[in-house]
Amino acid sequence: MNEDRFSLEFNLFVETEVPRDELIVSRTNLQGVITFANQTFAEISGYSPEELIGKPHNIVRHPDMPTSVFHTLWETIQAKKTWKGYVKNLRRDGGYYWVEAVVSGVYKKGALTEYKSIRSPVTSEMKIKMQNHYDKLRLEEDAIARSVAYLSRDNIEKLSRLADESGLSKNETLNQAIAKL
Ligand SMILES: Cc1cc2nc3c(=O)[nH]c(=O)nc-3n(C[C@H](O)[C@H](O)[C@H](O)COP(=O)(O)O)c2cc1C
Repeated sequence: MNEDRFSLEFNLFVETEVPRDELIVSRTNLQGVITFANQTFAEISGYSPEELIGKPHNIVRHPDMPTSVFHTLWETIQAKKTWKGYVKNLRRDGGYYWVEAVVSGVYKKGALTEYKSIRSPVTSEMKIKMQNHYDKLRLEEDAIARSVAYLSRDNIEKLSRLADESGLSKNETLNQAIAKL
């Protein structure tokens, strides 16, 4: 049995705490492509600032986030208003971190040129509340749902082998197998 493979799966659910005394800051162009990322944002997401700059901001989008949240975010900022909300973000290593984000416009000589986001930590109580709320929203949107399953080691081995062979992720491989039933 390949122990590394199991520890890798486990890492997918590791939470990174956002430091209380630091802010995560980023700016994007009007299309949502990152133009600036501070060191804290880079460290917490697992990328370097250079890797983040030039990428769409959905590089840190977590599959647990409902589509409607970002729909409202874009509607709000395009109307030149400030959006505030809780976001669960995806780290490069598959882990996650929660932030309270404030997203608004950057203006030069009165013209909207970019967007900026400043984020701060979230309490454990709020994380649980928002996870439950977003789980419900995602179900209503008929989008993907998170499912925690206990598979036998044999089946995990089979799934890993199938995924390796097809070049797809284990999620995609499992979805394909179920769709064929
Ligand atoms: C300034 C700014 C900051 C953003 N920050 C995040 C973020 O931290 N996490 C995130 O998932 N989306 C963030 N977004 C929204 C993304 O642009 C995107 O809409 C979202 O990830 C959903 O991806 P999708 O539009 O491809 O479905 C931000 C957008 C802007 C303008």
